[in-house]
Amino acid sequence: TFVVGEDCINCKHTDCVEVCPVDCFYEGPNFLVIHPDECIDCALCEPECPVDAIFSEDELPADQQVFLELNAELAEVWPCITEMKPAPADAEEWAGKPGKLALLER
Ligand code: SF4
Ligand code: F3S
Repeated sequence: TFVVGEDCINCKHTDCVEVCPVDCFYEGPNFLVIHPDECIDCALCEPECPVDAIFSEDELPADQQVFLELNAELAEVWPCITEMKPAPADAEEWAGKPGKLALLER
């Protein structure tokens, strides 16, 4: 499966959702997740993310392993998103910032 990691938090560009052939992205207030049981590993979304927040499960950095569980958990409770929407006005300022996990809103 593919996994959305920390760099998405507060950036949420949503380019990724437009290319997913199985519509398995789910949206929270400041982050998106991929449903691990629905993702078919097509890899189309990975290059679409302007902040490189999406990883193949195998390539998820060691310090982001918690995002495996977070994607699985939150995909069960958040609504599906299939159409791109404007990113937050301050998305650029948050790009690549460390420690964003603490800012994740549910
Ligand atoms: Fe969707 Fe393909 Fe990305 Fe999985 S890898 S989330 S199926 S676009
Ligand atoms: Fe997040 Fe990147 Fe998609 S910032 S919403 S994973 S395009």
